[in-house]
Amino acid sequence: MSPEEQDNRSRSPAEAQSQRSMLLTALYIAQQRHGYLTEEAFQRTAERLNLSLTDVYSTASFYSLFHTQPVGRYVLQVCEGLTCHLVDGAERLVDYIEQKLGIKVGGTTADGLFTLQTVECLASCGTAPTLRVNDELYENMTPDKVDRLLDHLAMR
Ligand code: FES
Repeated sequence: MSPEEQDNRSRSPAEAQSQRSMLLTALYIAQQRHGYLTEEAFQRTAERLNLSLTDVYSTASFYSLFHTQPVGRYVLQVCEGLTCHLVDGAERLVDYIEQKLGIKVGGTTADGLFTLQTVECLASCGTAPTLRVNDELYENMTPDKVDRLLDHLAMR
């Protein structure tokens, strides 16, 4: 058993719960620095919260808000959940954005402005199709709305 694992087992359930609840906030703050979670950010977060690196990695990889690779200034996350598919939104939006920006899912525009990703349900099925840009949710999306949104973001 590694020292980290031994330490994890010696904590009370309340302490472990507290450290885990701080983890999401710590990761969020760490990501603000570089736009994604660097190797150093993972190490420092694990050390400061006295958690194993595995715990920190697995938490970060579970949430689509966290990025483990460099991304553009704006991360466009198109929902590919069931409802967004059923309203004929997910594929249509992905295809439209890929064509408009000249990138594929997972790619970033050459100017570093936009990264395109797909995610599972964004928890707003009643307003499908949905799209998240960084921390903001956009609902009832259409290609026209995408055009206006991208134009607006590009001018910021
Ligand atoms: S399936 Fe897209 S918001 Fe739920």
